[in-house]
Amino acid sequence: MTGTSADRSAHPTAPLLELAGVGHTYTGQRRRTTVLRNIDYTFERGTFYSVLGPSGSGKTTLLALAGGLDTPTQGTVRFLGRDLTRLGLGRYRNRHAATVFQQYNLLTYMTALRNVTTAMEITGARPATGTRKEHALRLLAELGVDAATARRNVLRLSGGQQQRVAIARALACDVELLFADEPTGNLDEDTAADIIETFRSLAHDRGTCVVVVTHSQQLAARSDRILHLRKGRLTEQPGGAGPARLP
Ligand SMILES: Nc1ncnc2c1ncn2[C@@H]1O[C@H](COP(=O)(O)OP(=O)(O)OP(=O)(O)O)[C@@H](O)[C@H]1O
Ligand SMILES: [Mg+2]
Repeated sequence: MTGTSADRSAHPTAPLLELAGVGHTYTGQRRRTTVLRNIDYTFERGTFYSVLGPSGSGKTTLLALAGGLDTPTQGTVRFLGRDLTRLGLGRYRNRHAATVFQQYNLLTYMTALRNVTTAMEITGARPATGTRKEHALRLLAELGVDAATARRNVLRLSGGQQQRVAIARALACDVELLFADEPTGNLDEDTAADIIETFRSLAHDRGTCVVVVTHSQQLAARSDRILHLRKGRLTEQPGGAGPARLP
């Protein structure tokens, strides 16, 4: 895992990620839209969470706040007890939290392979064996992106291929938290199921906290904890695949 001792020693016994009284209101030219209201929730290491909720219920907004892409208009988000705004959102994203975006957000002037290795360089991820490039190619291959495809500019890949590259990029980062916004929306059922199992083992074998937004009850059932967003509130549904097993 990466992260400087300064980040880690802040509050070593504090929860990994804590939302405290989090609310979010978008202010447009004509009106204000309150999307999230007074959310208190703690995300733990080694646990695979899924988030369900109707379109427009604020799932992407929740991930943006938890992933350090935006700051809540009410309340605080704390990583190991430190307010993200004090830790620095950029620092948090670079060292501790990776996101698979709903729209992928790949660097479009690069090949698929460079997208993955660049993310590894930024987060300081070092593979257990071989070079970053070899590791990136291995991960891409596991996700069904062959070496020739990996060397093509991402704009020339299909939606499903881009989604796999975005997932490989997040998996390659050595971070404590992984957020994924409908990461299987463009994939066939079998590939989607494989990817969900990859997320599950990342949580259980590497101790990563994985949070996945999905519309699929079937995929959500493979997670440890199922969360629902509705009318701005976050609730937990019993019936996940089982309690977290800490490594
Ligand atoms: N930048 C923004 N400015 C204003 N309103 C926004 C902004 N982003 C999102 N919203 C509004 O906030 C609400 C929640 O949006 P969000 O994207 O978080 O929902 P979602 O649950 O991810 O939806 P979907 O399942 O369609 O992806 C929606 O009503 C949306 O229109
Ligand atoms: Mg969304």
